[in-house]
Amino acid sequence: MNILVTGGQGQLGIELAAMAWPAGVQIHAPTRTELDLTSAESVRSAFAARSYAAVINAAAYTAVDRAESEIGAAFAANALGPALLAEATKTTGTPLIQISTDYVFDGSKQGVYEEEYPVKPLGVYGASKEAGEQAVRTGNPRSIILRTAWLVSPHRRNFIMTMLRLGAEQPVLRVVDDQRGCPTSAADLAAAVSAIALRMIDDPAAPTGDYHFVNAGDTTWCGLARYAFALAAEFSGPSPIVEAITTAEFPTPARRPANSRLSTAKLARDFGIAPRPWQDAVKDIVGKLRPAPG
Ligand SMILES: NC(=O)c1ccc[n+]([C@@H]2O[C@H](COP(=O)([O-])OP(=O)(O)OC[C@H]3O[C@@H](n4cnc5c(N)ncnc54)[C@H](OP(=O)(O)O)[C@@H]3O)[C@@H](O)[C@H]2O)c1
Repeated sequence: MNILVTGGQGQLGIELAAMAWPAGVQIHAPTRTELDLTSAESVRSAFAARSYAAVINAAAYTAVDRAESEIGAAFAANALGPALLAEATKTTGTPLIQISTDYVFDGSKQGVYEEEYPVKPLGVYGASKEAGEQAVRTGNPRSIILRTAWLVSPHRRNFIMTMLRLGAEQPVLRVVDDQRGCPTSAADLAAAVSAIALRMIDDPAAPTGDYHFVNAGDTTWCGLARYAFALAAEFSGPSPIVEAITTAEFPTPARRPANSRLSTAKLARDFGIAPRPWQDAVKDIVGKLRPAPG
């Protein structure tokens, strides 16, 4: 049984390819060169090569700030790509799981965001992902839009990796403390995605629609940085002073939501998936970055 995972070299793609799947499941996780979502021909070839029991779109243009000036590139990967995948999976009724983001919301809501809350992206990245959501929703009825947030892992570029690198170079780091969200392990997200995919493959009546997956609890970027450094200090990792600053003190090309907290109640109700606390997930990630003894 073949499952296609796009964006095989991204944080989520790596975890999906590395995790234990049931016997008989074959994961195909092509690189961007092997499957370019912005090319209709490339997508067509991937589906001509074999048939898939499910498709997981973990690929995306994720450079949030650069997207403000690379609008075409962001929309090509994040909107056209999902549209091509929806078209390729629709006629065969193949389940399609589209990963999306908290950046479809503007962050002005008090409390956690439920799936049905009206979207209002603040920037190009969020708008392009929202367009991808629409393309999948309307293009393939057997689809799930799974929004996540603040993705972290021991791979590639993400907030924890950046903090640990900067912390080793600088004695004082100034980190934004007025944006709240749910740090989310790419490995935990991969486990949730696999459970959803297997259920959709097994059960033609499995739920479809919009869902959220984030680890439990919430914090600020500053809170996450301090927690990661406290863990790293246990193996003599970097321990800079972390100063709390406001978003206004750290201007970026793209505006970011002040509140990124997502409700996972619907996922628990429909799929029985209950995320663990973000602190436990971050402990695992920082633990993997501990240098080998000797
Ligand atoms: N990172 C976050 O904090 C965050 C938060 C909320 C939601 N999300 C969503 O979660 C999903 C996974 O994110 P991630 O952090 O794993 O992303 P990531 O590490 O940036 O990886 C994205 C992957 O997509 C690939 N890609 C980009 N354009 C492509 C194209 N045109 N065709 C094929 N592949 C392409 C990239 O290829 P290269 O390896 O060549 O760059 C990379 O392998 C995405 O949908 C993202 O929008 C992420």
